[in-house]
Amino acid sequence: MVCINLSVSTPPKLSRKLTLCSLGQPSSGPGVVRQIRYGDTNGGLVVLSDTQTIEVLAHFARERIPERSVHAKAAGAFGEFEVLEDISDLTDADFLTGIGKKTKLLTRISTVGGEKGSSDTVRDVRGWATKFYTQEGIQDFVFNDLPVFFIRDPIKFPSMNRSHKRHPQTNVPDNSMFWDFHKNNPEGIHALMHLFGPRGIPASLRNINGFGVHTYTLNKSDGSYVYVKWHFKPDDGIKTMDSKTAVRLAGEEPDYHVKDLFNAINRGDYPTWSVCIQVMKPEEVNSAPIDIFDCTYTWPYEKYPLRRIGRLTLNKNPDNYFQDIEQACFSPSNMVPGIGPSADPVLQARMFSYPDAQRYRVGPNYFQLPPNRPINKVYAPYVRDGPGTMNGNYGSDPDYIFSQLRPVAQSKKARKLWEIMCREGDGKEQFLHNIMPTLVDVPDRLRKEVLGKLIYLARFLSGILC
Ligand code: HEM
Repeated sequence: MVCINLSVSTPPKLSRKLTLCSLGQPSSGPGVVRQIRYGDTNGGLVVLSDTQTIEVLAHFARERIPERSVHAKAAGAFGEFEVLEDISDLTDADFLTGIGKKTKLLTRISTVGGEKGSSDTVRDVRGWATKFYTQEGIQDFVFNDLPVFFIRDPIKFPSMNRSHKRHPQTNVPDNSMFWDFHKNNPEGIHALMHLFGPRGIPASLRNINGFGVHTYTLNKSDGSYVYVKWHFKPDDGIKTMDSKTAVRLAGEEPDYHVKDLFNAINRGDYPTWSVCIQVMKPEEVNSAPIDIFDCTYTWPYEKYPLRRIGRLTLNKNPDNYFQDIEQACFSPSNMVPGIGPSADPVLQARMFSYPDAQRYRVGPNYFQLPPNRPINKVYAPYVRDGPGTMNGNYGSDPDYIFSQLRPVAQSKKARKLWEIMCREGDGKEQFLHNIMPTLVDVPDRLRKEVLGKLIYLARFLSGILC
C-alpha cells in the first residue's frame, strides 16, 4: 500500500539571520520543499501550494538581463574626481570649476568583443566608461583605451562588431571575417595599428589610457565654446603584456584583470589618472591639419598640447557587482551644462544608441536604479510609470506639460541670454523686430498663436519684461 503524508524533505536549519521569503513572510527554511511523501523514501509529489519553492525557481529563471551587445565583460569601481586646474574660462560645468572640488564617480572598464564570461587578457580594445554624479546631473564619459576608432560612418558599427565576434555557422571567432571587414573598410588602419601594437594587451586595467576619441565641446552660457579632446592618463604609466603571457593567462586566469583591479583597491592601492584636455578654438578648425569630426584621427600634441585639469581616483569596490556594474547605464548623451557634443556623426549616433540599448537591456526606468540615479533633485513629471517605478512617481502632480495647476521652473540659461539682449540697448526691440517680417506671410491663425507665445515667453523670461 502507498502511504501518502504531507511532510517536508529536509528539516529547517537553524540560521543566525532570520530567513524570510522574498515577500517578507517567515520561511520555514530556505532548503525546505513541501511535498506529499512517497512512503518512507525521499520521493514525493511537490505541492503547488509550496509558493516559496516556486518563487525561488521562477526567479532563478529570470535573474539574467541581456548582456551588453558589446563591452560585455568588465571590472568596475567607484571613485572621485578632483579639480586641479580651474577651467571656468572654457566651461560653466560646475564639477570642472573650483580647484579642489571633488565629485563622486563610477567607472567600468571592459573588453569589447568577448561575452560576459570571456577571458580578460585578449588583444582587444578596452572600453572606459565613467559616470560623474554632479550637482547638475549625470555626466558620462564613454571612452576607449585607443585614441582613434575603426570607422567614421556609424551605420558600419554593427557590421564591424559582428566581424570581430563569432561566425554565424561555426559559432567561433573567425580571423577571415575580421580581415574581410577591415580590408574593405581601410579607414580603420590607424586603430588597427594601435590594436596590433604593444598596447593591444594591457598588463593591468590600472595602467591604460582613456581617450574620448571624438571631439567634444566645452561651452559657457555667454555663447562661447571650444572644441576639446579628452584624455585620461594613468599616473602609474602605461604597462602592457606580451602575447605569450596573455595567451597563458587567458586560459589559467580568465578574470586576471578584474581580480587585479579589485585586489588593488581592496588593499588600498588606489589607481589614479590625470584628466587632460586638448583645446581648439572654433576659428582654428578650418586651418587644422585634420578633420576634427572624423574619429579616425588624433590631434597633433605639438599643436594642441595636453592641459591637465584634474585627477581621477578609483577607491571603492562595488558591494554588489550585478546591482552596481551590470545594471550601470553609461551614455555619451548624458551631459551636464557646459559640456556638449560635436558634429562627429559617430558621436551623434552613439547618443541615440546607448539609452536605446539600456531601455531594452535594463528597462525604461534604468535611470532610477542606484548606480544611474542623479544625486541632485530630479523633477521630470512627464517621464513616469513603467516597470520598476520607485521614485515616488511624482505623486498627484500633473503628468502633462504646461499645466497651470503646478507650473514648473525652467533652466535659467534662456533667461541669461534674454538679460544680455536686454542690456544691449535696443536688443529686446531688435529681437522682436527681426521676428515680425517672418510672420507677414504666414496664415492668420498661426501668426496669432506665435505672437501669443512670444508675449508669454517674454513675460516668463524677464518677469514682465526688463
Ligand atoms: C556608431 C558607433 C557606436 C555605437 C552604435 C555604439 C554602441 C554601443 C552600445 C549599444 C553599447 C552597449 C550599451 C549598453 O548596453 O549599456 C556600447 C557600449 C560601449 N561603447 Fe560603444 N558604440 C559605438 C562606438 C563607440 C566608441 C567610438 C567608443 C569609445 C570612444 C565606445 C565605447 C563604448 C564603451 C566603453 C561601452 C561600454 C559602456 C559600459 O561600460 O557600460 N563605443 N556601445
